[in-house]
Amino acid sequence: MCGIVAYVGPKQAYPILINGLKRLEYRGYDSAGVALLEEELLVYKTKGKVSDLEEHVQNANLGGTIGIAHTRWATHGEPNQVNAHPHFSQSKEIALIHNGIIENYALLKQELQTRGYVFQSSTDTEVLTNLIEDIKLNEGVSLFEAVRIALNQVTGAYAIVVMDKNDPNTLIAARKGSPLVIGIGQNDYFVASDATPIIEYTKNVVYLDDEEVALIRRDKDLKIKTIRNQEKTPYIQKLEMNLTALEKGGYEHFMLKEIYEQPTSIMDSMRGRIHLEQGTVTLGGIIEYEQKLLNANRIIIVACGTSWHAGLVGEYLFEDIARIPVEVEYASEFRYRNPVIYERDVVIAISQSGETADTLAAIELAKSKGATILGICNVVGSSIARATHAGTYTHAGPEIGVASTKAFTAQVTVLTLMALRLAQLRGTIGRSRFMQLITELSLIPEKVEQTLKVSKKVIEIAEKFKDVRNFLYLGRGYNFPVALEGALKLKEISYIHAEGYPAAEMKHGPIALIDEEMPVVVIATNKGTYDKVVSNIQEVKARKGQVIAIVTEGDKEVKHLADYVIEIPETEEMFVPLLATVPLQKLAYHIAVMRNCNVDQPRNLAKSVTVE
Ligand code: M6R
Repeated sequence: MCGIVAYVGPKQAYPILINGLKRLEYRGYDSAGVALLEEELLVYKTKGKVSDLEEHVQNANLGGTIGIAHTRWATHGEPNQVNAHPHFSQSKEIALIHNGIIENYALLKQELQTRGYVFQSSTDTEVLTNLIEDIKLNEGVSLFEAVRIALNQVTGAYAIVVMDKNDPNTLIAARKGSPLVIGIGQNDYFVASDATPIIEYTKNVVYLDDEEVALIRRDKDLKIKTIRNQEKTPYIQKLEMNLTALEKGGYEHFMLKEIYEQPTSIMDSMRGRIHLEQGTVTLGGIIEYEQKLLNANRIIIVACGTSWHAGLVGEYLFEDIARIPVEVEYASEFRYRNPVIYERDVVIAISQSGETADTLAAIELAKSKGATILGICNVVGSSIARATHAGTYTHAGPEIGVASTKAFTAQVTVLTLMALRLAQLRGTIGRSRFMQLITELSLIPEKVEQTLKVSKKVIEIAEKFKDVRNFLYLGRGYNFPVALEGALKLKEISYIHAEGYPAAEMKHGPIALIDEEMPVVVIATNKGTYDKVVSNIQEVKARKGQVIAIVTEGDKEVKHLADYVIEIPETEEMFVPLLATVPLQKLAYHIAVMRNCNVDQPRNLAKSVTVE
């Protein structure tokens, strides 16, 4: 979603801002813009990519040591130059960038129109810009006060940065529902939607909380107030991220790099948490909430997209080994369907970005009903990490590709550790079985490494099927979420329609789609319902469908039936998703590359979905 970068300090702002926008490209956007203040307050913007903006400003005056910049993911109004940010106020004295949605913008716009304001764009953002100007002029207050007062009149979500032509030393930043980080340098300040544009300049950051407004002045201390005028002391944190994690490191795409990082990212998610000698698992972040987990009636998992698929694996794990009922909910449905939530429920919110608006809202709802909320997030210090009572980070490192890969396997790893810990506490599995499982789990990074070697076969399959219009993915038990995830990966980056189904459901409808044109990916590993899945493959073959099967090394039966077979190493049934997902990620990747798709920034998608 929209990306924000701002700078004030001794250096030229433009290179910092453009560099920052490039770091935020992964979030997904359709237009870009920048405002710079030297003698004049100048705004440049264009539809398209940051590189288009660079071209657009080639001969422009780009001087100034203060500025704001933005990548826009359209909500109100089509993606074009006029709707791109920054937006000027009517007098052209104030410029503003915004991520989020001002829900009552239509009403505010009407009021401003009656007072003579004329709007250039169809955006909610221009309304906020003029509202601030109106308050500043009519109430004779500073820009900071005008922003604070204006935000009391606004409903919805926002992260904004504002600058004023008459004050070349000051930026005002504020947030509610959309993320904003302030970087504190030697003698300069940086503001961004996340830490990626900031990390190369400083590790000291302040995460703004909801309804906080920051006064950021050249050579002065940072001041923060709530929109209700309460002073807050800035809490400075140290970033742990490093710059190399944000580079492609020789890979053609971030997605490919992230697929190949999985042996390490899974290892990092387990590091210090499995103790083979003592025969135990610890999750430091939730240790104080273990009693709550033990006393819980049930676990409710809330998430979206790929994180929801990880949650589904979590459901199978918790029920299988810890014998506790689990419900897995799409956060967007949960938040609006008046769900029954008890104080003894434990809600686990899963999110890579930690900023997904629906997941955040689901957390707030569950919190208001007295439930205990635990988080599984990748981005340290993110809104969800801060909104939950406690949580466990996945430690997968920054995920830049819009299609989630290493975050998924890291989430599944953490859920596995949680389920094992809970099973141990509840005594639902015996010691020797527990030992067997943690020993096998600690071998998974090596097995993922081995699984990554399937490239040749995957490329051959990608070549064969790159031009089809539909794909079906089937799996049962632990492999059902893998089928869903495989299908999602393919559709989001290659734009081929793909459906994931529980294999046995095929005969209740999707079987009608099967003919010689239809590739069917079946996860048919050798445990659990293997025999039943073999029957499902036979049903597909009987209708001339083309079967691509993910099987366990050494499999004989499916090999005879399927058209293509990809082998993965033998492991416990519950750990198969950690392996079987990997060739499906690679299949989607290679098909997308062969179709010339923008793998890292697929059309219409955003990495962090900060609006509902
Ligand atoms: O950051 P989150 O994990 O909360 O994001 C949830 C979904 O938006 C995300 O998983 C999305 O489905 C990805 N594009 C999947 O690859």
